[in-house]
Amino acid sequence: MTVGRERWDSRTAFIMAAVGSAVGLGNVWRFPYRAYEGGGGAFLVPYFIALVTAGIPLMILEYGLGRRYQAASPKAFKSIGKGFEWIGWWPVVMCLVVASYYCVIMAWCWNYLYFSITQAWGKDPSSFFYTSFLKFKQATPTGTESLKGMDLHGFNWEVLIPLAVTWILVYLVIIKGVKGVGKVVMWTVPLPLLCLLLLFVRGITLEGAGAGIEYYLTPDFDKLFGPDGGAIWMGAYAQIFFSLSVGWGILIAYSSYMPKRSDVTNNAIITSLANCGVSFLAGFVVFSIVGHLAHVDGTTVEGAVDKGFGLAFVAYPKAISAMPGGPIVAASFGIIFFFMLITLGIDSAFSMIEAALGGIYDKFKISRRRACAIACTLGFLMGCIYLTHAGLAWLDIVDNWVNFYGITLIALFECLVIGWLWKGKAEFKAYVNSVSEFKIGVLWDICIMVITPVILILSLI
Ligand code: PHE
Repeated sequence: MTVGRERWDSRTAFIMAAVGSAVGLGNVWRFPYRAYEGGGGAFLVPYFIALVTAGIPLMILEYGLGRRYQAASPKAFKSIGKGFEWIGWWPVVMCLVVASYYCVIMAWCWNYLYFSITQAWGKDPSSFFYTSFLKFKQATPTGTESLKGMDLHGFNWEVLIPLAVTWILVYLVIIKGVKGVGKVVMWTVPLPLLCLLLLFVRGITLEGAGAGIEYYLTPDFDKLFGPDGGAIWMGAYAQIFFSLSVGWGILIAYSSYMPKRSDVTNNAIITSLANCGVSFLAGFVVFSIVGHLAHVDGTTVEGAVDKGFGLAFVAYPKAISAMPGGPIVAASFGIIFFFMLITLGIDSAFSMIEAALGGIYDKFKISRRRACAIACTLGFLMGCIYLTHAGLAWLDIVDNWVNFYGITLIALFECLVIGWLWKGKAEFKAYVNSVSEFKIGVLWDICIMVITPVILILSLI
């Protein structure tokens, strides 16, 4: 039923919400560490290719589907063909899984916000993060060793309250429906961007920043087509899907709350470019800091800090402590940074739940209040596994699994079903063009039907 469907207050509210979902921890935490792992500049080339060939075309597709069918992902796919409903349910499940660990990372940010006041991480943020805070590494006779994933060991009680706070905030926002979301994003989108700009100015003026930025911007083509090239390409595509929130059913749900005749392509392009612009900017911030740390420690940029999950929780604290100007300046920067991460993350977190709820309302008649309570409690409980001492191993496994196999496969199916199997594609394109300023043509078909599926299949292989 389309009668009585909730609506955004304005186009700005919709764009802000879509940008809010896209711009999140993925830009400031995940993008830089993926880029650092993928060899800095070597990662940027496939990343931008993925943006143009997969990110923008799929976003146009999802906005178009949501608007046209006025339904969240499961029902929208069902409208395309009865047999395709499962393609719409799959991302709903993925959203809940991602939300469960995404909120844990936000909970760490609350802890770190508090640690910033005294710079509790001391001289060695890396061992503080892995050993003292997460208790993920244990002392062995020869040093420290990471715990294996299957054995849960102990529980990090100090993260439990921040996790509960995060879920309560998510609950309080989505309980009010899209109108509530539309109001909150007016704050949670611009505020962190201001913080990021501040950190950017500070970052690039640090000594040694140039070397980090050079590493970030210089592509290494040998790496891209070398033996590890497949992983870098796949990582870049997965990062685009994660970062743009494409393939997760979120954009279908969000755009279904727009009036039927509102622009599709322009909004998709604005959201994508805004999101990737923020990632690109965050890259400058992180790599200038990494460059600075390499300069201070007298090492290379490549080996300056641990690559991987901990980058944001190791590199930034190191930089915060190394900040000229004394402890008060350092504490202020720390607080700004972790506050920024929380505000960045919150709108992405509630978009995941909102997408899942959208699917549930369309299918089952259940009140918003009850559905929100069930989803948030479930997410909170699922998140508790990452609070165990082996939680980081679980987080890494689940993040990799969901992003590489879950979402990449959904995107692949989306391309194949829409591109090759769906008889209504031509009519859909005509619909999108009739409501949009910027028209899509054969290039869109080539991206959806050939380029994206071929690259995804090759990198999966
Ligand atoms: N796009 C968000 C980010 O970059 C994360 C996200 C993933 C949001 C999946 C919704 C769905 O942080």
